[in-house]
Amino acid sequence: MELLEGEKEVIVNYVEGILEEFDPVQENLVPILQEVQERLGYIPALAMEMIATALDLPPVDVYGPATFYNQFRLVPPGKYQFKVCMGTACYMAGGQIALDSFERRLNIKEGETTPDREFGLEHVTCVGCCTLAPVVMVGDQVEGHVTPTRVDGILLAYDAITDEKENEGDK
Ligand code: FES
Repeated sequence: MELLEGEKEVIVNYVEGILEEFDPVQENLVPILQEVQERLGYIPALAMEMIATALDLPPVDVYGPATFYNQFRLVPPGKYQFKVCMGTACYMAGGQIALDSFERRLNIKEGETTPDREFGLEHVTCVGCCTLAPVVMVGDQVEGHVTPTRVDGILLAYDAITDEKENEGDK
């Protein structure tokens, strides 16, 4: 994912600081990745390159574990992260339809973030509000009974629908 202006400096600063906290040995790879994720919210490709250099590892030896473990994100989270529940109750009640609507309206796929970093989309498992299925979480906010019309309402509330996207959706 293309870095926005100023992001490169932030990443370099954070990762340099983190690398100073650990001995540069392979055993520290996962703790370093965890720390990067904790502070930046994801693990940028640039961070992986810096870690590989610092630990004197081939890049693939950093990329491998970073992609293997589910706990690591390789895409920056959106300022607003839409989490569509795909637990059984939500799935049966139309969770996939809600997810498809978000994908179409935001013009991104699940697991992606809009290029301006405003909105991210992911699926989650049961969030414990099955009676409201299908459910979408935005931050701590629970949105229930999310039909495609409700998706539009939610996105409008976050200014996530531009005229362009609205027109696309009407096609
Ligand atoms: S399955 Fe979605 S809240 Fe339980």
